[in-house]
Amino acid sequence: MTTQKFSSTGNFGKLADQYKVGRKGVPEEVLDYLWSHIKKSKPMILDVGCGTGLPSRQLAGRGALVTGTDISPEMIRAAKENSQENISYLVASTQALPFPDESFDIVTSFSAFHWFTDTKSTKEMKWVLKPGGPIFIVNKNDIGDFSQGYRSIFRQYMTEDLPRIKNGYSPDQILQEAGFGDIKRTVFPVSEFFTIEQVMDYFQSVSGWNLVPPESKKEALELLKEYAHGRAENGVVERKLEIITQLGFR
Ligand SMILES: C[S@@+](CC[C@H](N)C(=O)[O-])C[C@H]1O[C@@H](n2cnc3c(N)ncnc32)[C@H](O)[C@@H]1O
Repeated sequence: MTTQKFSSTGNFGKLADQYKVGRKGVPEEVLDYLWSHIKKSKPMILDVGCGTGLPSRQLAGRGALVTGTDISPEMIRAAKENSQENISYLVASTQALPFPDESFDIVTSFSAFHWFTDTKSTKEMKWVLKPGGPIFIVNKNDIGDFSQGYRSIFRQYMTEDLPRIKNGYSPDQILQEAGFGDIKRTVFPVSEFFTIEQVMDYFQSVSGWNLVPPESKKEALELLKEYAHGRAENGVVERKLEIITQLGFR
């Protein structure tokens, strides 16, 4: 199978403000794992599909010099609002990364790689990496029925189906085809915990929320709130996840 070209980018720009408040960062144990493969104290990291910069800030907090790129100007605007030392952000598609070859020690992509798994993008990510440097792909996969519940509410109002972006998605194979070696897949089972208010922001940061027509959003929010209350224990909603990581080397 050759890599599939996905035309969608998720249209996250529309969700930038919700995304900033609704999303959780990367568990420290996942970053500890990445750091166990890093030799430099101040590695230069390119974080592609950086969104509002939540993981980029975590990387910079560990001493990395981070460049965050995203195709969405709204996401980059939101990232810059929260910026901190040692991070620069710019709008760039993974299809044309505006950096010289071998510029970075590490390339990372958090909850984003499935949006740009075309051969051109993966090769771009490879060329900007120094020889021997790691690429680190991280995806959060829901386990259990948490996401089925809110997605079925979205579906009651949608006129087109949710994007099936992960159908046939095989990051190991994509990395292999782009010429990365020593690819390792590691899975971290974790849970995220939300207050009702936080989980409401989370629902509205999911790309499928874009497909609920504006005139139905108020009603959908009522149902989502009922759903959140139904799942809450002592006011806290649990999202069970597997964090799936792929580490490969140029
Ligand atoms: C689910 S968000 C993840 C954001 C961030 N990495 C995080 O974990 O919070 C996916 C991001 O990928 C970006 N994206 C989608 N296609 C892209 C492409 N071809 N090039 C660069 N960014 C892209 C979207 O705009 C969105 O901000």
